[in-house]
Amino acid sequence: MVVLGIETTCDETAAAVVERPAQGRGRILSNIVLSQIDEHAAFGGVVPEIAARAHVEALDLIIAKAMAEAGRSFAHLDGVAAAAGPGLIGGVIVGLTTAKAIALVSEKPLVAVNHLEAHALTARLTDATPFPYCLFLASGGHTQIVAVLGVGDYERLGTTVDDAIGEAFDKIAKLLGLAYPGGPQVEREALAGDGARFALPRPMLGRQHADFSLSGLKTALRLEAEKIAPLSEGDVRDLCASFQQSVVEVVADRLRAGLKMFRERYGKPNALVAAGGVAANQAIRKVLHQVAFETGTVLVVPPATLCTDNGAMIAWAGAERLALGLTDTLDAAAHARWSLHDVTGLAPSRNAEAPETNAGSVTESRMADD
Ligand code: KG4
Ligand code: ZN
Repeated sequence: MVVLGIETTCDETAAAVVERPAQGRGRILSNIVLSQIDEHAAFGGVVPEIAARAHVEALDLIIAKAMAEAGRSFAHLDGVAAAAGPGLIGGVIVGLTTAKAIALVSEKPLVAVNHLEAHALTARLTDATPFPYCLFLASGGHTQIVAVLGVGDYERLGTTVDDAIGEAFDKIAKLLGLAYPGGPQVEREALAGDGARFALPRPMLGRQHADFSLSGLKTALRLEAEKIAPLSEGDVRDLCASFQQSVVEVVADRLRAGLKMFRERYGKPNALVAAGGVAANQAIRKVLHQVAFETGTVLVVPPATLCTDNGAMIAWAGAERLALGLTDTLDAAAHARWSLHDVTGLAPSRNAEAPETNAGSVTESRMADD
C-alpha cells in the first residue's frame, strides 16, 4: 500500500510517500520537509498567518518533489493523506484542501489524519512496534503521555496543564536573549553550565497522576534571572542548565507515573516510545533510557527527522487507517483542536464517552506574542 502524506499544521511544509507492507515496518520512498524557521525567527515564534501563506507558496512544489523522488505518479498511489489537525487552522486548511484535490482528480481515497495519531504511530513505521505501547510526545505544541492501544484507540494518561515542554524551552530562550527555536540553544548553553546553581521547582513531582506543569518553573527562572541581572554569559549557562535539570527530573518522574498507570490498566507496554522535537535533547534521551531500563521497558526513539513534524508520519498513519478501511469523505473538516480521545478506529473508541477535560487538551498554538 503506497500513500502520499501531507503535513502543514505548524511551521513545516512537508510531503512524503510511504509504502506499508502487509506486515512489518514501512518503507519511506521520499520525505521532503521545508522548514519555515527563517520566516518566523524575527518574531520569536510561529506567526499563524505567515505560516499559512508560506504553506500555500511551497506545498505544490514539495509534493511534486516527494512524488518525483519516490518515482511514482498519483495514479500509483493507494491513497492520499493529510494532517487535518490539530494545528494552526490556516495551514491545516491548505494541506487538507490540497489532499482533497489530489484525491478527487486521481480518484484515490482520502484519509484525514490526526497529527497526534501520526506521531503516535511513527514507531510502527520505523520499528514495527506492536500494540499496546506507551508514547511520550513532547514538542513545541504538545506534551502528553498516551497509551497507544490500536489504530484509532488511544488513552491520554497525562498532559500538560499549561505550557508544552518545547514551548517552555522556547520561552526561556527568548527571556535569556537566545535565538528561536530555543530548545537546541538552551541545550547547548546548559552543557557548560551548573545545573545545581539555582534552586528551581520540580512541578508535579511525586504526584500520582501523570500530568505536567511548566509555567511555574518558567516564572521561577525569570525571577532568578531578574535577581541577578544583568546576566553574564556564565549566568545564562547556569540558568539554562538549572532549567534543563529540573525538566529532566520532572520528565523522569511523570514517565514513571505514566508507566505505572499504563501497567495498572493494560499490563506491560511493549515499548516506551518517544516523539516530538524535545526528544532530540540528549539529557532527555538519557533520562528516557534510564526510566526504560529501571522499568524493564523497551525504548523506541525514532530518528530525529521522524520525531519532529514530517510527511512520512502522516503517510504512514494514512496507510494504517486505509489498511483497516478507515477513509474520509471530501467534506472532511480541518480542526484547530482535535483530541486523540476523539479519533475513531474500527470499534467505538473506549474513550468516546470520556469527558473532555480541556486541561491542555491538544495544541497550544505558539504565537509570536505569547
Ligand atoms: O516536534 P517539533 O519539531 O515541532 C512541533 O512543535 O510540532 O518540536 C519543536 C520543539 C520546539 O519547541 C523546540 O524548541 C523543541 O522542540 N526542541 C528542543 C530541542 N530541539 C527541539 N527542546 C529541547 N532540546 C532540544 N535539543
Ligand atoms: Zn508535531
